[in-house]
Amino acid sequence: MPPLASPPPKSSPRSGRPRPELIFGDLWPYDPAPETADPKLKPRYDLFIDGKFVPARGGKYFDTINPATEKKLAEVALAGPADVDAAYQAARRAADGVWGRMAGRERAKYLFRIARLLQDRAREFAVAETLNGGKPIKESRDFDVPMAAAHFFYHAGWADKLEYVAPGRRVAPLGVVGQVIPWNFPLLMLAWKIAPALAMGNTVVLKPAETTPITALKLAEIFQDAGLPPGVVNLVTGAGATGAAVMAHPIAAKVAFTGSTEVGKIIMRSLAGTDKKMTMELGGKAANIIFDDAPINQAVEGVVNGIFFNQGHVCCAGSRLLVHEPVAEAVIAKLKQRLRVLRVGDPLDKNTDVGAINSREQLNKIRHLVDVGVKEGAELYQAPCPLPARGFFFRPTLLTGVTQSHRVAREEIFGPVLSILTFRTVDEAVEKANNTAFGLSAGVWTDKGSRILKMSTELKAGVVWANTFNKFDPASPFGGYKESGFGREGGRQGILDYAKLV
Ligand code: NAI
Ligand code: MG
Repeated sequence: MPPLASPPPKSSPRSGRPRPELIFGDLWPYDPAPETADPKLKPRYDLFIDGKFVPARGGKYFDTINPATEKKLAEVALAGPADVDAAYQAARRAADGVWGRMAGRERAKYLFRIARLLQDRAREFAVAETLNGGKPIKESRDFDVPMAAAHFFYHAGWADKLEYVAPGRRVAPLGVVGQVIPWNFPLLMLAWKIAPALAMGNTVVLKPAETTPITALKLAEIFQDAGLPPGVVNLVTGAGATGAAVMAHPIAAKVAFTGSTEVGKIIMRSLAGTDKKMTMELGGKAANIIFDDAPINQAVEGVVNGIFFNQGHVCCAGSRLLVHEPVAEAVIAKLKQRLRVLRVGDPLDKNTDVGAINSREQLNKIRHLVDVGVKEGAELYQAPCPLPARGFFFRPTLLTGVTQSHRVAREEIFGPVLSILTFRTVDEAVEKANNTAFGLSAGVWTDKGSRILKMSTELKAGVVWANTFNKFDPASPFGGYKESGFGREGGRQGILDYAKLV
């Protein structure tokens, strides 16, 4: 950003209030603009089993907090094995008795209804998502909630066209599926999991992440309002032990997991030898690759969007930048300028670019890995922005001089941290980008169409974006190579992963 012609005003032009604490670098101060919609939270949430909210048999609850303030939002029931079993029994009855036998065009009506009810309550859901997860309201309002609704709409459109899922073959539901999801896109991951499963005629037992259960439980209210038959979707809340029980239950014909590669491997080991179908969406270490002929400003904006918005809590985040040597210095200088004007803070403020880290545990992991990066010789640049006194926040961070052997180039940090490497030739870019255990996504920035085609063929990544990043559509399948997992979500391929070919 070029220097401003005149210094930013020391007080708000509208209110006249002095706001010296907001003035740093060359960033203009804004008045706070908090989103005010009522998230309609209940003080306590029970499990959602067989169409009803029921307390856990063990009678235990755990707190769920707002990571931006560390304040308790609600308490949530802790499901044990008996609750998970009750959820599966309900799902089995619903699959056999109603949902699996219902005509696809009838199932479609429920999915459309869920999508529309979610749209009606979009603001309320966006605020709830931001309060519980820490992501900026502009993300939850403009991306998470509309995309979740879009997934229900899209899959409603499939429900009466299932004969086209596998042309020439007939498809049937698998039965009951068990699903465990993470905290980075609580509502959207739930939609990715539930919508295709239901469209295909399966019923579901799902566990949200322990830090972000609220929007799932609010969606259960919508399932009730939509008249979804009892047992079609069951939600059990809890941590890893509850998740393990969901994955291991004998009724589950398929399990679908999104989360860390570490837990994905534990689940796969524990299910080896069973006949359960499985899909896994695990970690990533995506490279954004900028060539010297790329539109540099656009590329820098794409890189910033790819790693800093949403606090880097994105499995397909562009957490490595590979930049062509002739433009490396210019790109890094522009990135530093851009970091200076990122707004970090209150996630409910509509101006906020970077919100709260989801949990103290995650914040500690990010801090640790950045320390390791510096110890291994990387050079650190952090946005000079003020951070709120409470809550879990981390400054947008660049690590330059990173080499391929550095842990920050190899391990998923899952925070607003960009590791920067350089390259000289196209082949070197491909080799470095592919030199990772993961393979979820990649980004290519160049003016040359032929180079985009070459890169997208040679990069071992489930998604390759060209001159853009983090673009999603329910019609476009998403999933990984190597340790990023297997199976696809979205599109025809995604629904096929919930079908039996008969
Ligand atoms: P995690 O993989 O432990 O948690 C994800 C989900 O799995 C949660 O619902 C959790 O309760 C559940 N879970 C935990 N242990 C389980 C088990 N043994 N069996 C079944 N379910 C289990 O991820 P965590 O600990 O929250 O984050 C650690 C790292 O994982 C992050 O720093 C990040 O690098 C990565 N991660 C990747 C995500 C992705 O979308 N690929 C999402 C979240 C985290
Ligand atoms: Mg974990």
